[in-house]
Amino acid sequence: MKTITVLSRKGGSGKTTLAVNLATMAFLAGHKVLLADMDPQRSASDALRARQEPGPALAEITAGKLFMTKSNAMREDYDFLFIDTPAAPEADVAQAVNVADFCLVAGRPSFLDLAPIVRTAEAVRRLGKGGLVVLNQAHTNRPEVAPVAFPEIMEALRFCGLPLAPHGLRSREAFQKAMAHGRCVVEQEPGSPAARDLERLWAHLEAQVSGLGETPMRTVLTA
Ligand SMILES: Nc1ncnc2c1ncn2[C@@H]1O[C@H](COP(=O)(O)OP(=O)(O)OP(=O)(O)O)[C@@H](O)[C@H]1O
Ligand SMILES: [Mg+2]
Repeated sequence: MKTITVLSRKGGSGKTTLAVNLATMAFLAGHKVLLADMDPQRSASDALRARQEPGPALAEITAGKLFMTKSNAMREDYDFLFIDTPAAPEADVAQAVNVADFCLVAGRPSFLDLAPIVRTAEAVRRLGKGGLVVLNQAHTNRPEVAPVAFPEIMEALRFCGLPLAPHGLRSREAFQKAMAHGRCVVEQEPGSPAARDLERLWAHLEAQVSGLGETPMRTVLTA
């Protein structure tokens, strides 16, 4: 099983959008998928509950339940565990990073999101984990750049400690419409530009995690 934690210190950067869309893509690819919603806002849970079709299983959890959720999911032969996290508190999010095999740091390509992206990516590296920075809500008016971002932002992200995903998500209404039905944009608007962005991102993520060894869960046993 691969555990993928989606995080960002910045609120509204697209954590839940990424978690729901990518977990659903994994499900559509034939995998057994659990989405663990660690955010007390329960946005991912609201989305998945609105879903009419079969989809990823849902677990509403707190940081204290991470270990048990992961070990149950492994026992139940899940292929993917996605964890949607709140923007804070940091200690809880750090626990979600600790159980992860791979982390996705969500952020908008804007000046005010840059520092939170870099700090979040540095925290992931400090905890000894790998992952990707995924730009979300990029502008749609420069389709030749993937992901669309200002050159100076791209430059700063080169030094943040995690590689930048070659495909980000642009700001598209389809993401909001899809979320209202607990769907990913590939189901909601197949063939659309939003769907293409998500397909490319999922293909990249799948390739990245398929080569990873599983991170053993840290168990402290005292005699
Ligand atoms: N690519 C996108 N295109 C259009 N709207 C988007 C996109 N990504 C996210 N949004 C919208 O932006 C808002 C914030 O996104 P989301 O809830 O995924 O962020 P978050 O990081 O999970 O926020 P929070 O920190 O509150 O948990 C939502 O209304 C969502 O529908
Ligand atoms: Mg969220």
